[in-house]
Amino acid sequence: MDVLVVGSGAREHAIVRALAADPGVGALHAAPGNPGIGGAATLHAVDPLDGAAVAALARELGVGLVVVGPEAPLVAGVADAVRAAGIPAFGPSAAAARLEGSKAFAKEVMAAAGVPTAEPRVATTPAEAEAGLDGFGPPYVVKDDGLAAGKGVVVTADRAEALAHAVACLAKPDGRVVIEEFLDGPEVSLFVLSDGVHVVPLVPAQDFKRVGDDDAGPNTGGMGAYSPLPWAPAGLVEEVVARVAQPTVDEMARRGTPFAGVLYVGLALTSRGTRVVEFNARFGDPETQVVLARLVTPLAGVLHAAATGSLADVPPLVWRDDAAVTVVVAGHGYPVDVRTGDPITGIAAAEALPGVHVLHAGTALGADGLVSAGGRVLTVVGVGADLHAARAAAYAGVDRIGLPGSHHRSDIALRAAEGTV
Ligand code: AMP
Ligand code: GLY
Repeated sequence: MDVLVVGSGAREHAIVRALAADPGVGALHAAPGNPGIGGAATLHAVDPLDGAAVAALARELGVGLVVVGPEAPLVAGVADAVRAAGIPAFGPSAAAARLEGSKAFAKEVMAAAGVPTAEPRVATTPAEAEAGLDGFGPPYVVKDDGLAAGKGVVVTADRAEALAHAVACLAKPDGRVVIEEFLDGPEVSLFVLSDGVHVVPLVPAQDFKRVGDDDAGPNTGGMGAYSPLPWAPAGLVEEVVARVAQPTVDEMARRGTPFAGVLYVGLALTSRGTRVVEFNARFGDPETQVVLARLVTPLAGVLHAAATGSLADVPPLVWRDDAAVTVVVAGHGYPVDVRTGDPITGIAAAEALPGVHVLHAGTALGADGLVSAGGRVLTVVGVGADLHAARAAAYAGVDRIGLPGSHHRSDIALRAAEGTV
């Protein structure tokens, strides 16, 4: 089977890498991809948001599966356009991707499905926002209703800052904000594949969203991740499938908008139990980089089964016992004021280390070689017998990368490896 992957980040590079290792996959294509993805797939300069263009490309290439990576094409209906052309697409319809595209909609579905989450108040005016803030008290959690590329959420003890964010979100066309109860406790990301009816969980991972060590500084798209989570309670995956994923998939089917693709369940393990922090309608980045590094089962067949309603026929997934850690190498100034165009060196030297591979995120080919072209530039993945070994591999790889002005967190998976989470 030939496969087309839509997207251009390190998540899509991880997906392409896993597909390339699948003996059932023939030719690999990506739209638009990036220079790293170009090492394993043929790149096509097609706008990933243009469903008609992606469907036309898929038909022209004769692929048997299209995998849509990022949220924006999903919310724009790219998976619908591909399916309308008669080609299996991995990724939810635009109607089902609203689980990510609107936080208020996600809360409504969770309420209908009885899924445990932070209690929300939706506000459309500054006065309603103020009432919401004062109803919950600090710390305040204020979320832009729509897609905001990881920058829509403010968590703060400062009421003025919380209100300013709410007012800024409300100033957008059709602006709405969700103000909700603060959830304490460690966060877990669990990806659950669905064909619209059945669900198959992957292994949990943890993401590091803040830019600096010890969770200092602003939120980012994610600075690193690891899997497994030795500290997670036994039975967590089964609990989340039974109380969150299956009820949500059932509720979406009941509404006539079945969710087929991957449901990203962002959880907080609070003192009062497991709560959903967020849903996304796609694989997480950078968690996918570590989850797929541990998957032994060939990926294409599983994604094809989810895309074609046959997930129930897939044998249980097989996972490596190894641990995986990924560290994001970010460009100068990320996430505030990103500088691009800096030369990147050392990828081959990093990949010469045992257990290390490097995935491209914001990279481009300049006249003199590879240069940075985005905030998160590379993710370096280390695989080892345990989290200590995987961290050592990942950081040895990072040390071999050259990128002027770059920065990365030095504490990814540290507390989990030391047993102090
Ligand atoms: P979201 O885009 O909804 O995932 O939120 C981004 C990040 O904000 C999450 O990963 C959490 O770290 C934080 N966050 C979101 N909702 C809450 C909440 N109710 N309580 C505490 N932190 C939250
Ligand atoms: N890792 C966070 C996200 O993908 O949204």
